[in-house]
Amino acid sequence: MKILFESSINNDELTNVVFVSEKLDFPSDLAKSATSNGFSLPQVAKHFSFHGKKGESFTYIIGKTFCIFIGIGKRSDLNINHVPMLGGKTLATLNAYKVHKTAILIDTLGINSSENYDIAANFALGMKLRSYRFDKYKTQQKPEDKPKLNEIHIVLEHSKEAQKEWKKLEAIADGVTVTRNLVSEPPNVIYPESFEKKCWELEKLGVEIEVLDEEKMHALGMGALLGVGQGSVRESRVVIMQYWGGSKNSAPLAFLGKGVTFDTGGISLKPSGGMEDMKYDMGGAGVVTGLMHTLASRKAKVNVVGVIGLVENMPDGNAQRPSDVVHSMSGQTIEVLNTDAEGRLVLADILWYTQDRFKPEFMINLATLTGAITIALGSIYAGLFSNDDELAEKLYDTGMKTSEKLWRFPLGDEYDRMINSEVADMQNISNEKGAGSITAAQFLKRFVNDTPWAHLDIAGVTWTRKDLDLSPKGATAFGVRLLNQLVEDYYE
Ligand code: BES
Ligand code: ZN
Ligand code: ZN
Repeated sequence: MKILFESSINNDELTNVVFVSEKLDFPSDLAKSATSNGFSLPQVAKHFSFHGKKGESFTYIIGKTFCIFIGIGKRSDLNINHVPMLGGKTLATLNAYKVHKTAILIDTLGINSSENYDIAANFALGMKLRSYRFDKYKTQQKPEDKPKLNEIHIVLEHSKEAQKEWKKLEAIADGVTVTRNLVSEPPNVIYPESFEKKCWELEKLGVEIEVLDEEKMHALGMGALLGVGQGSVRESRVVIMQYWGGSKNSAPLAFLGKGVTFDTGGISLKPSGGMEDMKYDMGGAGVVTGLMHTLASRKAKVNVVGVIGLVENMPDGNAQRPSDVVHSMSGQTIEVLNTDAEGRLVLADILWYTQDRFKPEFMINLATLTGAITIALGSIYAGLFSNDDELAEKLYDTGMKTSEKLWRFPLGDEYDRMINSEVADMQNISNEKGAGSITAAQFLKRFVNDTPWAHLDIAGVTWTRKDLDLSPKGATAFGVRLLNQLVEDYYE
């Protein structure tokens, strides 16, 4: 799919996309030509039950021009933050009409901005994100089953500036694609070592890659992470990705991800119905990898480390048992009462390792950590837990801006106590009913050692069963746009 930015339409094969509000305020030149047919455009619109509402559209030929009119509701409700979503919706509409080539008349959005090249580039981003497909294993696909759209001409006066801006935003789309590809792959293809291989591809962007194999992890004392992987024939891995684009002496930002390439639950085996979902239990690690891709390819002026813990959680003769006690790298011991609460064990060691080695400005971890977060928030918001109000606020605001929304949950001593153990320093689940996502976060908090930290529980938002404006069904890459924006707005 080609995306071009142009100052005028110079091709009459293109289907023009024109945005119209609830006021049915059609562009005057089109309105004039349409009248020559004997109908006014509002009359035609009403004939097609088009009222300019969001989600409505109709097609019409005016003179020699094929037009698709797309409703945008009230113009006063629109701002730049909505533009990617409009782009995504428009892409879906164009595909529904089986359009091959299109011209998007950006000015008809009518968003008041001196920088409408920014609007054009953000619109392109939305289109690109929505156009993602993962069909490499569909060998029998007929051409008519595939979307036709292959040329998008985005038309605006400042097309050169828009093109430049798009170059920056394209790095976001590329990072999202990296994440979605990783998360979409089946677990016989993506397992710790093959995931590690994919990380090496970031080297060409200037990211330093370093790998801890099991021997090194043993030497470091990462008994919590190793315990999770010990029932798998696949070796576990920790991958450390460093990108130094900021000033020499400034502490890096750290992003960490849970990378359970498949979570059977281990000996605390999950029920078989729905177990296939657990291929996306490496979603946090996928987001960190995609984010590093984005930051490095847009040459962000910031120092960042990405650390991901890659394991497969399998039941086996060598698997850990409920009631095993493991030694974490921090020195704290953990009684593993449920082998299905494995993500926190993986994160415990990489959180400790990261703060100990890098002394980062903050640590933000992403993890498909608990089913309970989906009970609370569904698939709309991700859960936010933090020991630092300032960091939490920045994350919340950025979530609203990017529509990768976060909702903060409480932490506190009363919850912390719930994971005290009779036999070890802590246990990996609470014995009490309720607050499952919070006690999981309390567990992580015991491994951050006063570093400003936030935990994003992305279990509900990593995979979507229905098409969203910016993501077709499947892997969403929730977090890449959010954290890229956080870095850009506050740390560059
Ligand atoms: N990977 C799961 C959480 C999950 C559930 C992710 C649904 C995505 C969708 C996690 O490892 C897990 O199994 N958590 C348990 C914790 C429990 C044993 C305390 C859960 O949520 O049931
Ligand atoms: Zn689990
Ligand atoms: Zn899991």
